[in-house]
Amino acid sequence: MAVTATAAPPYVTIWQTTTAIVASRALQVVAELGVADQIGERPVPVQTLAEACGADAGALERVLRLLASIGIFVRHEGGYAHSDASRVLRTDAPGSMRGFARLMNLQFVNQAFTRLDHSVQTGEPAANIVDPRGIWGYLRDHPDEARIFGEAMLAKAAADIPAVLEAYDFRRFGTIADIGGGLGHLLRAILERAPESNGILFDLPEVIGSLPRATDRVTRVAGDFFRDALPSADAYILMEVLHDWSDQDCVRILSAIRRSATPGATVTVIEGIVADAGDDPRVNTLDVLMLAIPGGRERSAAELETLFVASGFKLNAVVQTAGAMKVVEGVAV
Ligand SMILES: C[S@@+](CC[C@H](N)C(=O)[O-])C[C@H]1O[C@@H](n2cnc3c(N)ncnc32)[C@H](O)[C@@H]1O
Repeated sequence: MAVTATAAPPYVTIWQTTTAIVASRALQVVAELGVADQIGERPVPVQTLAEACGADAGALERVLRLLASIGIFVRHEGGYAHSDASRVLRTDAPGSMRGFARLMNLQFVNQAFTRLDHSVQTGEPAANIVDPRGIWGYLRDHPDEARIFGEAMLAKAAADIPAVLEAYDFRRFGTIADIGGGLGHLLRAILERAPESNGILFDLPEVIGSLPRATDRVTRVAGDFFRDALPSADAYILMEVLHDWSDQDCVRILSAIRRSATPGATVTVIEGIVADAGDDPRVNTLDVLMLAIPGGRERSAAELETLFVASGFKLNAVVQTAGAMKVVEGVAV
């Protein structure tokens, strides 16, 4: 059966979808300028915001008026105040989404996404036009953009981690390795709940090298999961890692884990899962981003099971969380 998402009249659906990029860009620019950081508990005049952020007051007013009309900031006589949504754009908000809002503003992501046409015509990541080495090679040479990318991962994960930890108990594992764990946010949250466990954070040398301070019970290992031996552990986490890669590369990653895993070890793949109906707009949005940028895809549980079987794991469970992600558990056979 065809998937129909909204009951809006057809021309409204097309108008809104075509122009969604305007509000999206407005949000990215406002996040980049740090406008939300200038607003506390009271409305702030646009002139004051513009001076603090280095913007043209008239232009900023128009952009904020658009955002306020969709619930981001609240427009008052005397200026702009926070809505619930704009408050999480503050840099100091718990689980701040500012980093995520800046993600699409990254030169690399932005340039790649404007060439979605290339991906659709060829099936290849448009990002390779911007840099043939792909996103990870590019970020290696652009530490400022890599820092914002890391902050974006932290921001998006902050919204999902509590739901993952509520749904899945990691306390039964002695050693837990987070492969492609980025800045280590998930591993830290797991170890807080699992006082008897130890963690290993594995990521590229430039990511591990950028980490500010050591974390208790976490060993950091720098390496490349396509080339280097992975650490030995009882459980492995891959959160939004497999979706970056082709099926063939996923089998290489999972096989590297299988070679290092202790007998009966568990692998947990934590990401959005395509349902049979394929009608979750968040998963479908990520899927198209994966097509254009790293060249990966979102997968169904059955597709992940095929990758498990090809790498020496069997599918053990698919755990629903209250958030957008599922935990797909495999066990080494
Ligand atoms: C989409 S991010 C996910 C980060 C984290 N797991 C999360 O969900 O927030 C993918 C991670 O894979 C890492 N990565 C990419 N290529 C890698 C490689 N060849 N070896 C190890 N890590 C890699 C990146 O540096 C990045 O931290």
